[in-house]
Amino acid sequence: MRTRLVVSGVAALAAAAVAAAQATAAETADVAKEQLKRGEYLVNYGGCGDCHTPKVMTPNGPAPDPSRLLSGHAANTPRPSALPPALIGPNPGQWGAITNNDLTEWVGPWGTSYASNLTPDVATGMGNWTSDQFITTMRTGKHLGVGRLLLPPMPWFDIAKLTDHDLRAVFAYLKSIKPIQNPVPQPVPPKGP
Ligand code: HEC
Repeated sequence: MRTRLVVSGVAALAAAAVAAAQATAAETADVAKEQLKRGEYLVNYGGCGDCHTPKVMTPNGPAPDPSRLLSGHAANTPRPSALPPALIGPNPGQWGAITNNDLTEWVGPWGTSYASNLTPDVATGMGNWTSDQFITTMRTGKHLGVGRLLLPPMPWFDIAKLTDHDLRAVFAYLKSIKPIQNPVPQPVPPKGP
């Protein structure tokens, strides 16, 4: 009789443990879902796609192409014709920067920069990045926190003001979108005088 009681007690404990584990798993899934929602919200509000998503032409002008979400400057985009000399410069009457129709290629005093592929593609996107590397990149304005300085118009100094919690949410969302293979070109330094 006594043994029976003990056995059923153990069984009850085991059942309680399973229920607790299930509850924890459900809570973890809820937290992860919340994080992705928050990340998507911040990426939309932060306008990442303005520069990082190639556009399709609509009757109202260029709009982000949902099939190439956040995949960066399309590697196969033909380069617009060369700019007239002295068009861009620091003086009144000169332009500060100029962009292509996708808003993914930018020419300014820094040379030419191309919006990066933010999808989780391993070879051409951020598939190999950790969220710590993403946070340090945004906080320091340096590639992976240790490489070259990021070029305009990437507004890393604004994104740097987000909390770690929000930056992790942005990164988690970026990791959750469709990976797109697109090798974005390296930036081109400015032409000499
Ligand atoms: C006004 C245009 C613009 C906006 C808006 C923008 N970016 Fe960028 N971003 C760029 C450009 C251009 C580059 C490439 C810079 C370079 O090559 O140095 C870049 C580079 C990056 C990189 C690559 C950094 C690296 O080290 O390789 C990441 C990550 C990034 N952006 C994330 C974001 C996120 C997240 C947002 C929104 C919260 C965002 N960007 C908004 C233009 C923009």
